[in-house]
Amino acid sequence: MRVAVVFDTPYEGWTPDQHAVQMAKDLANWKKVEPDMEYQVAQALQKNGHDVLLIGIHDDLRDMSARLADWKPDLVFNATEAFLDNIALDYLVPALLEAEGYRYTGAPPLALLVTRNKAMAKKVLAYHGVNVPAFKSYRVGETPSEEGEMRFPMIVKPLGTDASEGIAQASIVHDLGGLRERITFVHERFGQPALAEEYIEGRELYATMIGNGDKVEILPIVEMVFDAAGDRPEDRIASKSAKWDMAYRKRRGIRNVFARRISKVAMERFHTICYASYRALWLRDYARIDVRLAADDSIWFIEANANPFLSYGHDSAEAAHKQGLNYNAFIQRIVDEALKRDA
Ligand SMILES: Nc1ncnc2c1ncn2[C@@H]1O[C@H](COP(=O)(O)OP(=O)(O)O)[C@@H](O)[C@H]1O
Ligand SMILES: [Mg+2]
Repeated sequence: MRVAVVFDTPYEGWTPDQHAVQMAKDLANWKKVEPDMEYQVAQALQKNGHDVLLIGIHDDLRDMSARLADWKPDLVFNATEAFLDNIALDYLVPALLEAEGYRYTGAPPLALLVTRNKAMAKKVLAYHGVNVPAFKSYRVGETPSEEGEMRFPMIVKPLGTDASEGIAQASIVHDLGGLRERITFVHERFGQPALAEEYIEGRELYATMIGNGDKVEILPIVEMVFDAAGDRPEDRIASKSAKWDMAYRKRRGIRNVFARRISKVAMERFHTICYASYRALWLRDYARIDVRLAADDSIWFIEANANPFLSYGHDSAEAAHKQGLNYNAFIQRIVDEALKRDA
């Protein structure tokens, strides 16, 4: 098949050939530096026997349109994470693909928009009876003047970031003063609304899901464990450091492992929440749902990631591997899911 891989790139004006050269270089250097996700995906597609065209999007979507019209792919693999360096604009690429009638992998624009807005996603899920933490959002300039119904501790995060951008120990607040201060920090630092949520004490679990309709599979669950981290809420969240700072992770015994024992009742609730969320949020082909499992076996939705990170060795690919899908098979599975569905 002819598969075009589209992705956002810092390289302005690069042709598919220039990307192919860069891809070969980066893949050859893999031991030292992890290649960009789009190159890993493209290599997997090639190994699966497909013809691949690399279309980098810098600041002009018309270039993508023209190249696609010219090459006429059977499928577009959407490896876009942002547009104009803005993750909130990621939906524009699938929106255009939709307008132009291409079949593409992953989430439709609606799913990207709704899951990007963490308040909106929780409102939709609450309607469907999914357990979500109590929350309140504050637009830029707004702060609470008195204590409301919600109980402390709370966690304050930007409404629409990902990769734990803006999430640190200081995101946990214990009183009205702290809440106001952190909301103002989020407004000033990120220029977007802030979301305050009741803090859910519990284990941190990630479910990669794959499929569509009534054939959606949950891959083996990944757990972020905090084995030497301390017991305060501040110590047990997937902050930016907890995700990305290797020395910090080592010191605190923070690792992503396959989930430790989960009771039967919690597992049933976990599955129910994952399937309900996947469907209600219009997720497609693949996605990752983040939840927390509390000591009383209740499961709480934290966040849905439409089009999660697909690189080799990261949570979703590792979960697929555990399920018997090596990296190439995992990427092929996403292709197959995109081709199989009705729309
Ligand atoms: N309501 C909550 N209760 C407990 N921990 C939370 C809550 N919301 C977020 N967290 C912690 O913060 C982390 C990052 O939050 P999340 O909404 O997933 O942001 P991101 O999109 O950056 O991953 C979560 O993985 C979790 O550890
Ligand atoms: Mg998350």
